Amino acid sequence: MTQTVTYTRHGAFAEALIDNPPVNATSASVRAGLAAAIRTAEEDPAVQALIIRCAGKTFIAGADIKEFGKPIAPPQLPTVIRMMDEARKPIIAAMHGAVLGGGFEVALACHYRIATPSTKFGFPEVKLGLMPGAGGSQRTPRLAGLAMTIKLVTEGGQIDAKTAHAHGLIDEIAEGDLGAAALAFAERLVAAGKGARSARDLPMPADDPALFEAARKTLARKMRGQTAPLKALEAIRLGYEMSFDDAVVRELEMFREAMAGPQSKALRNLFAAEREVARIPGLPETLAPRPIKTVGVIGLGTMGRGIAMAAANAGLPVIAVGLDLNNLDQALRAIGKMWSGNVAKGSLTQATMDERLALITPSADPTDLAAADLVIEAVTEDMAIKTEVFARLGAVTRPGTILASNTSYLDIDALATASGRPEDVCGMHFFNPAHVMRLLENVRGARTAPDVVATIMAFGKRIGKLPILSGVCDGFIVNRMLAKRSREAFFLVEEGANPEAIDKVLVSFGFPMGPFALGDLAGLDVQAAARKARKASATARELRADFVEQMVAAGRLGQKSGAGWYRYGEDRKPAHDPETDRLIAAHAQKHGLLRREVRADEIRERLLYAMVNEGAKILGEGIAPRPHEIDVAMVNGIGFPAYTGGPMFWADQIGLGKVLASIERFRADYGDEYWAPAPLLVAHAGQGRGFYG
Ligand code: 3HC
Repeated sequence: MTQTVTYTRHGAFAEALIDNPPVNATSASVRAGLAAAIRTAEEDPAVQALIIRCAGKTFIAGADIKEFGKPIAPPQLPTVIRMMDEARKPIIAAMHGAVLGGGFEVALACHYRIATPSTKFGFPEVKLGLMPGAGGSQRTPRLAGLAMTIKLVTEGGQIDAKTAHAHGLIDEIAEGDLGAAALAFAERLVAAGKGARSARDLPMPADDPALFEAARKTLARKMRGQTAPLKALEAIRLGYEMSFDDAVVRELEMFREAMAGPQSKALRNLFAAEREVARIPGLPETLAPRPIKTVGVIGLGTMGRGIAMAAANAGLPVIAVGLDLNNLDQALRAIGKMWSGNVAKGSLTQATMDERLALITPSADPTDLAAADLVIEAVTEDMAIKTEVFARLGAVTRPGTILASNTSYLDIDALATASGRPEDVCGMHFFNPAHVMRLLENVRGARTAPDVVATIMAFGKRIGKLPILSGVCDGFIVNRMLAKRSREAFFLVEEGANPEAIDKVLVSFGFPMGPFALGDLAGLDVQAAARKARKASATARELRADFVEQMVAAGRLGQKSGAGWYRYGEDRKPAHDPETDRLIAAHAQKHGLLRREVRADEIRERLLYAMVNEGAKILGEGIAPRPHEIDVAMVNGIGFPAYTGGPMFWADQIGLGKVLASIERFRADYGDEYWAPAPLLVAHAGQGRGFYG
């Protein structure tokens, strides 16, 4: 048929086998091949039914994202789907792997559907700022009802084969070989005299239309700021207002409008960036990672526990070393408690929890780490302690064992020297809670061996993380950029903005919370310790804005003590605290500061451009090899809204000339010390280009 679709006859049945790696997307040649297969099967009197199946690890996982934003070669997907609707012979989808987006739409346009038990189904379009564009919003309700459709189409989640079967989205779960099962299904179909049919001909469900209003409210909260989920909801409603054929035409128009919109452009860039960061410039893709069979974790505070859990969750044996016996016991109990919470919620079975617990071998003796292939250090964030630990690790582990520090800002190269085996040393900066947060900031030191880099990138993926690579600098990518945002936030408070107003600006920009609510959540004592560690490099003004130290001195540690910037009741919701107003007013009086009204746009620009400028420095210094690392890290690490594409992509959309002009204005007002523009930003703005080109 075409390069990617093979047409084969098996007696009275024909099979169109799609083989379009990596995910069998509906690229131009697949669409052409499917169209030809349908035509051939229809015209061949000896063929009684057509089976559509895929080679490789998945059924069609969607439209081809690489074609988006470019002219689409005919036939377009809706055309192929219309051919399926009009076919007189039954078409059967035989599915495995992931049936997503356009792939799910092809499946729903087939007349019958069978799938292996492990198949997953979903419409991830909203995650790309899109919505189904080939009938998904119209066929799904006709087969599965409104509630299931709203869940699938507007939230972008996936369901398993059992759920799909229970909701009428597939006809049969196929055991054993899928090709053989599909043929047997076709034979039974024909023997029973069943012919072609189409979901197009079914009525819309008589479900309660109040579901729309309820969903609108849920989406406005759960997917705040995103335009696609509400558009997707609107598309489903079309089925009640017009005929199927008119509704799919309008759905396609809406899909195209969404595709041209800024959010989809940003989310698609981020999708590509999240995959691009796995390819490290200059690192051969053929470089073999070192085998990791056993993981060691040393230091069992909050981070160490989470890291041990993340490794055990991936089925890896963990030697968990705590240096104090009491703490060791407490750590294991805490780990058990966290997993028990998952069991109670039903996301983990007791048997799996027991297996995972059995993978963790506690020890108070670092020499036990001799059996590990990778040791992750998560002891107290103190250079002297970490230096001692690395010297010890260098002595007790085998040469070739990777020694990684979970430090969030300390010097990896100094730890590498202390170990005596600098080529084996790197950073692996996890985010709290380490067993939950997806981002992993891997750090390459000056002397880290290339295969160590390859190993920690592969290891991160193996434990379900999204690893990015940073070079060594104070705070690496995420905390270095975040530190600039915190600096501006404290300065803004000194100048007159109140913490709640600042948080509100960032929340309305799309962050899950602002810097002050975040400080309260993380613990102001933790923030004060980080400020103390950086004291030597802080400016006089940064030292003066010592709100965090004042809070801690007053026993206000944030959420955990019931008060910080905000006051917290039983519900843990932040509430205004007049005590904070008093503290700020006293601070201003003590230092003779005249507070003024600060406008929301100044707050937004100062907080965000401070990060963009630092990102440009990070890029210019080669700490991040590409803007991709920065955007992926900031979206997944601190909740920079994904639909902006991340700080660097967002700045590109504003125009670097405009960003630079604001930075120059701030420089004139607040000095070179804080607002000297990054040379790379100046250079790119001068050339009229962006960080991405
Ligand atoms: N089109 C083109 N390439 C795709 C693709 C797609 N829809 N989905 C994935 N790929 C590529 C990736 O870019 C990656 O390429 P690379 O190796 O060059 O980096 C490769 O396939 C493997 O992808 P992953 O690293 O993500 O592999 P995983 O095995 O972890 O995951 C997956 C596989 C679950 C299919 C995941 O890739 C995924 O979720 N893909 C996106 C699916 C999607 O969003 N589909 C909807 C598209 S929009 C649509 O269909 C519109 C329709 O309604 C008209």
